[in-house]
Amino acid sequence: MQLDWLTLAGFRSYAQLEWQPDPGVNVIVGRNGAGKTNLLEAVGYLGSLRSFRGAPDHALVGFDAENAYLRGQIASGAAQSLIELELRRRGGRQARVNTQRLARTADLLGHVRFVTFLPEDLDIVKRGPSHRRDFLDATAVQLWPASHLDQADFDRALRQRNAFLKQYDRDEVTLGVWDERLAQAGGKVMARRARTVDAISDQVASVHADIAGSEASVGFDYVSGWKGELDPTVSPSEFAQRLTDALGEARKRDRERRVTTVGPHRDEPMLMLDGHDSRYHASQGEQRTLTLSLRVASHRAIADLIDRSPILLLDDVYSELDPERAAALTRSLPEAQTLVTTADPRDVPLEGISWSIEGGTVEHR
Ligand SMILES: Nc1ncnc2c1ncn2[C@@H]1O[C@H](COP(=O)(O)OP(=O)(O)OP(=O)(O)O)[C@@H](O)[C@H]1O
Ligand SMILES: [Mg+2]
Repeated sequence: MQLDWLTLAGFRSYAQLEWQPDPGVNVIVGRNGAGKTNLLEAVGYLGSLRSFRGAPDHALVGFDAENAYLRGQIASGAAQSLIELELRRRGGRQARVNTQRLARTADLLGHVRFVTFLPEDLDIVKRGPSHRRDFLDATAVQLWPASHLDQADFDRALRQRNAFLKQYDRDEVTLGVWDERLAQAGGKVMARRARTVDAISDQVASVHADIAGSEASVGFDYVSGWKGELDPTVSPSEFAQRLTDALGEARKRDRERRVTTVGPHRDEPMLMLDGHDSRYHASQGEQRTLTLSLRVASHRAIADLIDRSPILLLDDVYSELDPERAAALTRSLPEAQTLVTTADPRDVPLEGISWSIEGGTVEHR
């Protein structure tokens, strides 16, 4: 899969940009604040409909613009598609594929598959469980684009149940209705997380062995308060049933605390290195290796599933790596269109086309 060309208008620091990246490796060089991450963020937005920096949509619209426009041509095998997206400062967005307007913007998902490598990826291993849940959920959208909708349903059901628990009048019948909705949506989220882990876990182990050059075992463990064990053969409805039971058992506590205390939003995926929780037991270097392995493994899993190689977005990752890990990452990177940013090209041990970003333009160096 490759991006043939990209045009941006009113997107972040780009008032107007037309760019034709190479189908191979693109090394994008610019000083701090030049707009390197903004460029990758635009590509990621086309593939996930969200900023990989976690920025809200309105932050993506240029300071002086009313709307942001992102357009690009994607080639996937013999097929080409023209995708267009408009983000409005006041909220709302609109998408077109091959000039046809989509009824739901979310139907754009799946046209651009990508995998990011970001300096803050270390948080996935090092910090709290929400980072690992987010990693799994975002990876799932790249594997199965429609899972975006399940996630949105679940988030909404959770917000509504929590809002209800905070009210003065909280009757049993209405709470039961919220339980049911949360359980149905949660069952889907859970089944998909189990399948996501299943899709990447074998790959993680072998990629990790390549990068680390060690035989250490790597795996996921999943702790949940409601029998949400990681079993990819359990159906969404079975997970929903388990969550319904758990919500019933937690009802008294939820009423007291006025918040939903069980469900996928409280689950704790753990990354195990040789049987120990890597969050607490792995060294900084081991954590970094594990993070890179997760990303390379997700790329392989998505590529296997769709039979195309997702675009690689590497934002300033090489400057964080010691020479050995940098070399190991380069060795394990898959064949793919690659956009890699850096402030100093000497940090990047990749052969490719060099671009320089300055004053909102991207030009050959
Ligand atoms: N909505 C926006 N409209 C206009 N400019 C913006 C907007 N959001 C961010 N910027 C500008 O974009 C610049 C940051 O761009 P970006 O994060 O891509 O830099 P970078 O090249 O990745 O830098 P670094 O090397 O520090 O990571 C900042 O100068 C910021 O002012
Ligand atoms: Mg940056």
